[in-house]
Amino acid sequence: MKLSIPVMETIQKRHSVRTYENRPLLPQDREALLTCMKQIDNPFGVPVHEYIIDKELNAEGEKLGTYGVIKGASTFLGVSIPDTELAPLAAGYEFENLILFATHMGLGTVWLAATFNRDSFASAMEIPENELFPAISPVGYPAAKRSLTETLMRSTMKSASRKEWKELFSQNDFHTPLTKDMAGAYAQPLEMVRLAPSAKNAQPWRVRKTQNAYHFYADYKPGLSKGEEVIKQVDLGIALSHFHQTALELGLVGTFESLPQEDVKLPENLHYMISWRIGE
Ligand SMILES: Cc1cc2nc3c(=O)[nH]c(=O)nc-3n(C[C@H](O)[C@H](O)[C@H](O)COP(=O)(O)O)c2cc1C
Repeated sequence: MKLSIPVMETIQKRHSVRTYENRPLLPQDREALLTCMKQIDNPFGVPVHEYIIDKELNAEGEKLGTYGVIKGASTFLGVSIPDTELAPLAAGYEFENLILFATHMGLGTVWLAATFNRDSFASAMEIPENELFPAISPVGYPAAKRSLTETLMRSTMKSASRKEWKELFSQNDFHTPLTKDMAGAYAQPLEMVRLAPSAKNAQPWRVRKTQNAYHFYADYKPGLSKGEEVIKQVDLGIALSHFHQTALELGLVGTFESLPQEDVKLPENLHYMISWRIGE
């Protein structure tokens, strides 16, 4: 389903917000988020669950449970999924759609997969025992000025910058860079992939174009823990949301499919996720 917002404009506007005004979400803003949560879906056929909860502020106006990273927010969104193969991609896709919707409303958000107390949020949100709980996000009104913690985090992770096209996108094999000219109508969906947020701003998305398809891979060293692997796949799901929602906005037609990768030798760090097959 296409989000009913200007997708490319919203992707370019979005950035992480960790410092919020000290006031609760207006009831109408909360209602709009709830409506969006009920409507969003994903093209991978996975049941993804979203949550919204309010938590009391402590005396310093800081949220309990985010290790001092988030200031001022009292409402949090969350996402949970079954422990199945495409579920982390679906979680990234659907939760990013919710984040883009909130961004379009003028609200601040930030994906949190590490700097929050998972146990306390899992019990507050009543996440089912057998589900994975990859991430939450505060949601609220961005403060005029970033906290010192947030400013330092952004500079350490180089949050305002992204890898170049030639590091991310290739043609046929993994050695020929894909230029914007070669991507043609898909230059914009790919540029929106490039602007996606990712854990630690690692930008693990890699895309390979063949004649009829764009193939998506996650770039990470073998030997990650299960939890770390899930987050890499969530990063890919976020990129797929940007790619797909932009394609829908541009009227580009295709479908997500698992396609054989026998024609190419995969570098050791690349893990195949899914392909977008161009055409009806
Ligand atoms: C899956 C995921 C997990 C993240 N986890 C955290 C986190 O635990 N703590 C945090 O402060 N930021 C977290 N971030 C935010 C990223 O650091 C941020 O998106 C990145 O630095 C790019 O900055 P931008 O969102 O402003 O474009 C996460 C982002 C993603 C996509």
